[in-house]
Formats: sequence, C-alpha cells, structure tokens
Amino acid sequence: MADHIPKEFLELVLQRIDLVALIDARVPLRKKTGNNYFACCPFHQEKTASFSVSHSKQFYYCFGCGAHGNAIDFLMNYDRLRFPEAVETLAKQIGMAVPHSKTSEKALSFQHLYTTLDEAAAFYHAQLRQAPKAFAYIKQRGISEEIIRTFRLGYAPRGDTLLQTLGKTEEARKALQETGILNQKDTRFYDRFHERIIFPIDDRRGRCVGFGGRVMDNSEPKYLNSPETPLFQKGHELYGLHQALQVNRQLPRLLIVEGYMDMISLFQYGITYAAATLGTATTAYQVQSLFRYTSEIVFCFDGDNAGRRAAWRALQVILPIVPDHVQFRFLFLPDNEDPDSLVRREGKIAFEKRVTEAQTLSQYLFQTLMTDIDLSTVDGKTRYINAALEHIKHLPEGIFKNALLTDLRQKTRTDISLSVEKQSVVSTRPKTSSNRSSLLRYALSLLIQFPDLAQHVTEPIPSGIIPGTELFNQILEIAQQKKTLSTGTLLEFFRTQPEEKWLASLAQEELSLPQNGLLSEFLGAIHKMRKQIKAHFIQKMLEKAALGSLSSEEKHELNQLIIEKE
Ligand code: GTP
Ligand code: MN
Repeated sequence: MADHIPKEFLELVLQRIDLVALIDARVPLRKKTGNNYFACCPFHQEKTASFSVSHSKQFYYCFGCGAHGNAIDFLMNYDRLRFPEAVETLAKQIGMAVPHSKTSEKALSFQHLYTTLDEAAAFYHAQLRQAPKAFAYIKQRGISEEIIRTFRLGYAPRGDTLLQTLGKTEEARKALQETGILNQKDTRFYDRFHERIIFPIDDRRGRCVGFGGRVMDNSEPKYLNSPETPLFQKGHELYGLHQALQVNRQLPRLLIVEGYMDMISLFQYGITYAAATLGTATTAYQVQSLFRYTSEIVFCFDGDNAGRRAAWRALQVILPIVPDHVQFRFLFLPDNEDPDSLVRREGKIAFEKRVTEAQTLSQYLFQTLMTDIDLSTVDGKTRYINAALEHIKHLPEGIFKNALLTDLRQKTRTDISLSVEKQSVVSTRPKTSSNRSSLLRYALSLLIQFPDLAQHVTEPIPSGIIPGTELFNQILEIAQQKKTLSTGTLLEFFRTQPEEKWLASLAQEELSLPQNGLLSEFLGAIHKMRKQIKAHFIQKMLEKAALGSLSSEEKHELNQLIIEKE
C-alpha cells in the first residue's frame, strides 16, 4: 500500500464501496452470469463484452486486455486520477475524510508547484497578446486562434519578467525555482526562457508540468525545454496527449510524432489523435501507458537517415512489450517534410491515407532486415532467419509472436523453431496434477478468491521448499487478521509489488467448483503440500544419514518426522 495514507483507512474505504455501483455509474454493466457483470471494456477497443466485474470479489478484470483491479485502480485508470486522488474521491462518496500524515504534506507541496506552473503558463499566455512580434510569428506559422487557446501557447519576453511578476516573495521564488522555470547563477535568479514562443507541457490530466520554448529566428538552441523535476520527466510525458484525450474518450488510433509543432498542426487540421515526444527517444514507459487508451499506435518519423535510426530504436524499445491487442505501425514521411508541413500542404485526408497505409510492425521489421540480404542464397537466407529470430525472441509469448514466426517460416520456406520459444501451457486445472507448484497455485487461487478460508488454517506452510509459500503465508496472515476481506481489498496490499500481476491473474482464474466443498478442497491442498514438504525433509535427512553426518539431535528429529508422517 502507498505509505502516506494509512492502510487501515484504505481497507475501510474499499470494504464500504460497492465496485459494481461505482463502475456501473460510468460504464453501464449489463449481462450478468453468476456473480459477474459484463461490459465492453472501457480500457481498450472491443465489440464483445470481455470486461467483467465481480461483486463478491470487488474486483474487475478484462479478458481482452488484462486491465484489472479494485475500486482505486478503476478510478485511477478510468477517471485518470493519481492514487491519493482516487482514494480521496472514494472516501468522499462514503462521507469520510482522508487522514493526513507527513508524506501527504509532501503531496500538498506538489500541489503548490502545480499551481505555480499553472500561473506561469497563464503569464506566458497573456504575454503573447502583448508582443506583436511573437503574435506575428505564431500567425505566420499558420496557427489558429482556437489552437492558441486550446494549447495555451505563450511568449516569454526579454528580461526577467516572469521572476519579477510571479516571484515577489521568497517562497514564490523558491516554488518557481523548483519547477525549473528559473536559472540560478551564484545566489541570483533569472528567467529560464527569454524571447521564446512557449508551449506549456501538460500531463495527461491536463496539469502543466513544464515548458518547451522555441526561438523565433535561426538562433540556437532552437528549442529549450524545462529541466527534469519531480513533476516533469521527459521520458514519461507526451505533448498533447491530454488534449487528444479531451477530444476523444476512446482513441482508436494514436499517432506519435516528434515535434510540438507537428502535434499542434495535426490537431488544427482535424487529426486530433497525435502526441509528441519531447525531443528524446520514445521510451517503453510512454508507449506502455498508451495501451489502455488505444489499440493502434503509429510512429511517425522523418524519411531521412536520422528518422530511420530513430524508428529502429523505437522498434527495439517496444518489442519486449508488444501486447496482442495493440497494433503498431511505422510511418515514414517524404524527404524534407514533417507532419506539420505535410498536413498543411496536402490536408487531412491525404495525410490520414498515409497513416492507414503505414507499414505494420512486422512489415517494417522484415523489410528492414531484408536490406542488403539476398534470400536466394543459402547463406543469405540463414543470415536473414537468424537476424529475424534475434528480434522475435524479445517479444512476449502470445499470438503476435507466433504470427511473426509463421510469417518468417512462409517467407523463407524453412521450418524454424525458436529455441528460446517455450510455449508454456499454463494448466488451469491444477487439481488433476499433484505437481507441487500447481498445488500451491491452486491453494493460492482459492485463498485469494475466498479470503475467509484463511480462518480455518492454523499454521503457515513451512517455507523454502515449495516456491511461493512465503507469499501464500503472507496472504494467509493478512486474511487472518481481518474479519471480512474481499479479493479487491486483499490485492490492495500488493499495489506496486512485483507479485501484484500474478495475484491479479489468479484472482480472476475460473475455478471448477470442487465437489467436496471449498473448504475441504482448500485444506486438502494444504495438507498435501505439508506432506510433500515433510517427505522432502525426511529424504534430505536420510541422505545425510547415509553419509553418517547426522547429529544426535537430527537423528531424533528424523525419528519424530517418520513417526508423525501419516
Ligand atoms: P519547427 O522547426 O518549429 O517546425 O519545430 P519541429 O517540431 O519541426 O522541430 P524539429 O523537427 O526540429 O524537432 C522536433 C522536436 O525535437 C522538437 O519539437 C523539440 O522537442 C526537439 N528539438 C528540436 N530542436 C531542439 C533543440 O535544439 N534542443 C532541444 N532540447 N530539443 C530540440
Ligand atoms: Mn517542423
């Protein structure tokens, strides 16, 4: 649990909120099968309802895209709130106030920085009207009034006007400095931006977190950005994403471009689904955070060598994270054009035609690898296959990876198998297997889905032999301490923990209803594991005894173990 809100409070809130009602107010839930409600998933594009909400578990799960969580997660993802804000919203609904502790004061101090950045954006925006030269530049770039307002474009005048206007007190100066809008030389402060067109950079919730500033002539550097601050990380933000999300609740497609001006011009010309990186290479974080908004991501690059290199780099970044439900495309523009110039020259329809016809990830990968390889020779074919496998192996297991392998087989008419390709078939019926880890997995699934079962277990399972027992015991202990605990609340304990994903997948796993009742099934699995562990200890000790290296204490222990074995 996040440490600044007491975890008891989170439990309390989660126990009182009804997840079904919470979601239904935003995404009407329809079909009901058993305990589950269904809807089309609000987190990815789909036609059939694979988003399920369980009343008893207080947990949602999408079988299509894997989105999952409790009431807090839902608000974070659907209303795009940060963790404390989601808790705040839920608490309000049940008429409670979030108790504040030291670290939430820190969150408050961030609020102060957001306010400062917002005031700075407003200041620059107002300055644009006062500066005929800057306004003329904007007009000359063909930017409309509406766009100036939507993106709050601004101008930083000559001198230290921002500091003088907004930094009148020591405290205000400090806030300005922390947001990165001031430069410091010895003990003196100066404005960071002078005589530049200002592009406020909003996070996806629309809060200004930094600025980009462009010169109006040919001087260098052409663009100057805010430095990284606690609120602003270039590898996390995408310029214009907030505005794109404002216009489109669902984004069937998202275009990633390289420049502020590109994003803005596309928007002005009706292509409202673009966002720009901030002068750095695309990061996995940026791409991954888009999976919940869109099912198609198109990277747009200049057609020159630098563009080709950037595209290849982006490919390497995304390969390990490509999910089956998102399609990637690579669009290369003609020489000496960027999206800004192109959309102005040829218009929306022609530009969109390029987008829809852009190479898919597989076309781009295979075609690029083909460059200077001659497939008609054995040598060329071998090199080609190896190079392709070298990339394909990074993909997560799934439909897309298999499709690429099939494609490669057909292209080369070779029977290829990827040696690292372990098609692990996960058993969803662990009952039939007495395999240790599947027993644990089964018991863990039961425990997560029916936390009350914990009340019937007296002792933890000895750890160290069966993988996962530590986690099992941890959950057992949590569940034992609480009288009533839903799956959703239980998982709250694992927010941001590495186990969270696995636990969530167990939480939604369909369990065939055991004949002998849940409890005996659960206790049976635990009993079997205990027996296995004991057998393991006996085996180890017997091995040691055969070497004559048992101490008298251990001999005694061994006797005890053998006596109690059944
Ligand atoms: P215009 O020249 O105004 O059309 O801008 P552009 O968006 O076409 O710029 P360009 O293609 O030259 O650069 C793309 C992006 O790279 C910009 O939006 C900036 O984020 C970044 N960038 C460009 N030049 C600089 C620079 O000198 N310094 C920094 N830090 N970033 C730059
Ligand atoms: Mn440009």
